[in-house]
Amino acid sequence: MAENMAYAGAVPLVDMKNISIAFGGIRAVDDASVDLYPGEVVALLGHNGAGKSTLIKILSGAYRRDAGHIFVNGEEASISNPRDAKRYGIETIYQSLALADNVDAAANLFLGRELMTKWGTLDDAAMEAEARKVMGRLNPRFQRFKDPVIKLSGGQRQSVAIARAILFNARILIMDEPTAALGPQETAQVGELVKQLKAEGIGIFLISHDIHDVFDLADRVCVMKNGQVVGTARTTDVTQDEVLGMIILGKCPPGAVPGPGALKIAA
Ligand SMILES: Nc1ncnc2c1ncn2[C@@H]1O[C@H](COP(=O)(O)OP(=O)(O)O)[C@@H](O)[C@H]1O
Ligand SMILES: [Mg+2]
Repeated sequence: MAENMAYAGAVPLVDMKNISIAFGGIRAVDDASVDLYPGEVVALLGHNGAGKSTLIKILSGAYRRDAGHIFVNGEEASISNPRDAKRYGIETIYQSLALADNVDAAANLFLGRELMTKWGTLDDAAMEAEARKVMGRLNPRFQRFKDPVIKLSGGQRQSVAIARAILFNARILIMDEPTAALGPQETAQVGELVKQLKAEGIGIFLISHDIHDVFDLADRVCVMKNGQVVGTARTTDVTQDEVLGMIILGKCPPGAVPGPGALKIAA
């Protein structure tokens, strides 16, 4: 399987080691470590307030860590703002999607980095052609290139946001609660997008407080509780009930590698 190849001596795309950050007196993330391989989906799971978004905001440069190290492709990365993260090929898709509602897909893909003609005018034809190319890869059924994105369905809007992220060569994609506001059909569509990105070798952190949304898509799960990692496991090595036990009780099953937050019990 591709997953096994990904681990055999491969260098992780991302390796976050011993990351900590506190806000006031609260340790939002406490000595957390997680890694991600090319073509892999790692689901970050845990209750609201577990520290998932904060951990991932350290990777995306939105927050500065108090301690720990981040390696990208085996080399220590210096990430202290979102621009740094983008230079390392790290892109984040927030729940809000941050699209410009009143313009079309192509305009959204090139927002702030528009293609220009040699006469210094907007090159709408080139941008639409590029948009068709990247959308064709991600979501071949997408045809609504002339509509403002506000008219699109939730799943279509999601594909525009993802296309914008990967257009500029993201290798590492962070999706924070991507299906929280979507119905079942659109959630399935996001699943298709994730599979397509995997096939292109992109690594994805998928954040969710709901295990059912992500278990089938993930190669591994990493469960957080109270800012700490309870454990990390391949989805083939644990059951959904065991992962629920990790989320709710902090109990690490035999198929998982325990983290600092694993419940310590004497037999
Ligand atoms: N900017 C911030 N200022 C103060 N506290 C924060 C901030 N961001 C997150 N926290 C706190 O950090 C903890 C982890 O939050 P968060 O990472 O959002 O959890 P999750 O994404 O798992 O729901 C919570 O206790 C939250 O209140
Ligand atoms: Mg969150």
